[in-house]
Amino acid sequence: MTAPTGETAGRGWDGATRAEVVSLPMNRPCGQNLLQMMHQVAALDPSPVRSGLTGVHVPFDVLTASTNYEAAAAAAVTSTARLAVIGPSGSGKTSFIGHVMDALAHTHGVGQGVAALRIPVDAEDPAVVTEPAAFAAHVVRTVARLASSQGRIPQRQARQHRMAAGAVTRARQRGASVTAGVPTWLAHGDLAAQLQSVTTSVHTPTGAELSELADTVVATLTAAGLYPVLVIDDSDTWLAGTVADRSSNVAPFFGRVLPAVARDWNAGLVVAVHESYLTMPEYPRRDGWLNTEVRLPRLSGADAVGLLLAARASATTHQPAGVGDVAGPEGLANLHADYIAGPGSVRQMMSLAHTALTVALDGGSAQRLEGAHVAAARASL
Ligand SMILES: Nc1ncnc2c1ncn2[C@@H]1O[C@H](COP(=O)(O)OP(=O)(O)O)[C@@H](O)[C@H]1O
Ligand SMILES: [Mg+2]
Repeated sequence: MTAPTGETAGRGWDGATRAEVVSLPMNRPCGQNLLQMMHQVAALDPSPVRSGLTGVHVPFDVLTASTNYEAAAAAAVTSTARLAVIGPSGSGKTSFIGHVMDALAHTHGVGQGVAALRIPVDAEDPAVVTEPAAFAAHVVRTVARLASSQGRIPQRQARQHRMAAGAVTRARQRGASVTAGVPTWLAHGDLAAQLQSVTTSVHTPTGAELSELADTVVATLTAAGLYPVLVIDDSDTWLAGTVADRSSNVAPFFGRVLPAVARDWNAGLVVAVHESYLTMPEYPRRDGWLNTEVRLPRLSGADAVGLLLAARASATTHQPAGVGDVAGPEGLANLHADYIAGPGSVRQMMSLAHTALTVALDGGSAQRLEGAHVAAARASL
């Protein structure tokens, strides 16, 4: 099957591109006012759940002025490839995958969309990530839960979903962001009800019934003109040497469970891979079923850090922001230097900026994050 292709390249946060950022309104919030607003909503808190901001992903394509990342991943997904998104912890894998799948859901109209089925694996029963049948059952349960949650979402959100699923115009789609983990494609016709009746038809399915169920789930989505893609964005946390060492999951998950998924599910696959898995002999790099890799890049300079901070300023104030609005040149350089010296974790860099913001506001008169604020924040960690 060939999935639809779509354009996602060059879309930044809220659709802005690097070029568009040049034209900034003169009266946008700046200086201490901006810092205070950002502090109030914890805009630099690296946990998006805590900050509550959405739309803060700055595409790596924008950061690197290339089409090697989001655009390449979107092209791979729409051409039915199975994609591994590779990087160290905190490098942006979850953020990247969310952005790519969101953009694909919004780029296509009803009857030609990508249906991203996000399957959590991190906090699941070990059997789910080591036994193909348990994983398949988990996928079916996850779809059932999604389908039933569609009926419970508030009216206003349901309306937004229908609008996004209708994909009328790009401007209208922008306002209709996906929230609460219920994907827009579920608003399509009576798909949620259909999926619910499929997934609840068998209570404790046997192996054969399970693969039949998997087929029916896929067929239901395909009949609605949707291309199902299993999205596993938290499979990168089973590291050796950590407190909760679950590295023994890597071999069965990548060696047995995912190959079975590739064989049994007529669906796409996007999976987060910690870069250190690549050196494990169990990681099936050359088996062919995980046939495309996107390795996230390192942020190449202070300018890239400025763009990340500007996206968060923009999400806070709902106005475009400039690269230098949040931090001055030395502040950006210090943040970038710390990032480069470390493992390449955007999360860690953002956390340092978050602390630096508190330091700057505690000082009383700061207009932007300066080098000294970042240095003091660094020293306090
Ligand atoms: N390209 C990006 N644009 C904006 N924020 C990013 C980007 N990449 C990473 N982040 C931020 O860095 C933090 C860690 O990213 P995350 O996607 O959770 O990393 P990973 O999944 O690789 O551990 C999050 O707060 C995320 O929002
Ligand atoms: Mg992640």
